[in-house]
Amino acid sequence: HGVFTYDPGFLSTAACNSNITFIDGEEGLLYYRGYPIEQLAEHCNFMEVSYLLLHGELPNATQTKEFTDTISGSTMLHDQLSNIFRGFRRDAHPMAVMVGVVGSLSAFYFDAMDIRDAKHREISAHRLLAKVPTIAAWSYKYNLGQPFMYPQNHLNYAENFMHMMFATPCETYVPNPVLAKAFERILILHADHEQNASTSTVRLVGSSGANPFACISAGIASLWGPAHGGANEATLKMLEEIGDVSRIGEFIKRAKDKTDTFRLMGFGHRVYRNMDPRAKIMRTTCHEVLDELGLHDDPMFKLAMELEKIALEDEYFVSRKLYPNVDFYSGIVMRAMGIPNSMFTAIFALARTAGWIAQWSEMISDEEHKIGRPRQLYKGNLRRDLVPMDRR
Ligand code: CMC
Repeated sequence: HGVFTYDPGFLSTAACNSNITFIDGEEGLLYYRGYPIEQLAEHCNFMEVSYLLLHGELPNATQTKEFTDTISGSTMLHDQLSNIFRGFRRDAHPMAVMVGVVGSLSAFYFDAMDIRDAKHREISAHRLLAKVPTIAAWSYKYNLGQPFMYPQNHLNYAENFMHMMFATPCETYVPNPVLAKAFERILILHADHEQNASTSTVRLVGSSGANPFACISAGIASLWGPAHGGANEATLKMLEEIGDVSRIGEFIKRAKDKTDTFRLMGFGHRVYRNMDPRAKIMRTTCHEVLDELGLHDDPMFKLAMELEKIALEDEYFVSRKLYPNVDFYSGIVMRAMGIPNSMFTAIFALARTAGWIAQWSEMISDEEHKIGRPRQLYKGNLRRDLVPMDRR
């Protein structure tokens, strides 16, 4: 009968100490290991950022090369894993396939799964970083009915993913540098975001000593929800549903109506009560990509820009500090790059894998960490005697 603090949604509970990511939601600041996200997005590639998240410091040139080579050298999947894909329906959502296939990695890579051993933890972290993009791309290829494309180690992380998504055995994928840079930015901006739902899930699952592949699979499951990583896909679905600029008013009205469960997808954030700094960067990237592809006149993008404008001026959104979030823009960028809606959350997952494993490693290396065990305020019946079946 202890007295517990009631905090649904963990609005005021800090569940851990962490040195990884700092967010100031009021000011709209985001730092990884102390470095502002704007500087990282401008000057680093995703491998350097992943190294930073995992190790706490930016790598020098030798460390960058070693780390990049290690990751590139682990991108292939055990050949038996292709059979796991083939067990799914062809029309399965890529996130459903990812939850399953990433979870199944522990059935293949159990030679280094002693989580008390720092070397084992590092090997598993590298394997996850290297293999999750291959799994994501293959879940798309499986959908399409195209052959799985093997990773190409001479390409960088972003280009390699695009190659596995878009190349076929008959046609090479030639990366467009503007699009590859935009994709790298998406990865950097989504790499970590402190104790959000999926990261907290990874920590909670990991707190029991579960293996890292199981933890990341659980993180992917949590990320899938439309209030979290599913928002980028939900944003595009919403834009398609709105269909035309003339119907924006109707949807804004629904978003404000408290008797209607509809929300404007890609708007609002639990922590940011100011413009999300990632959204600012992604907004610029969005315009760079649209310029590169000459897509500014595409009706869907016009619709998105009009929606952004109306929502930023509308009293309801302004007073609640509901700004477009990073996923509003990343969805638009990915669509312009030819990535289908169904892959948006999978791409978020491959970026966030860097943060998840950094957070998991931080927790496991803290000798004082405890199994996560929230309490509850019990509101159900107190003791009562059961009534036999014939008298119920
Ligand atoms: N459209 C309309 N109204 C909204 C929206 C929205 N997108 N978001 C919040 N509100 C209203 C909400 O109805 C409430 O109004 P009132 O005070 O009158 O009752 C007020 O704003 C505060 O909302 P809340 O539900 O208390 O805020 P929260 O911190 O619990 O939710 C959120 C944050 C992100 C889940 C929510 O804003 C939302 O559902 N947004 C749409 C989904 C989305 O874009 N999610 C991606 C988040 S960023 C990526 C990530 O980190 O995963």
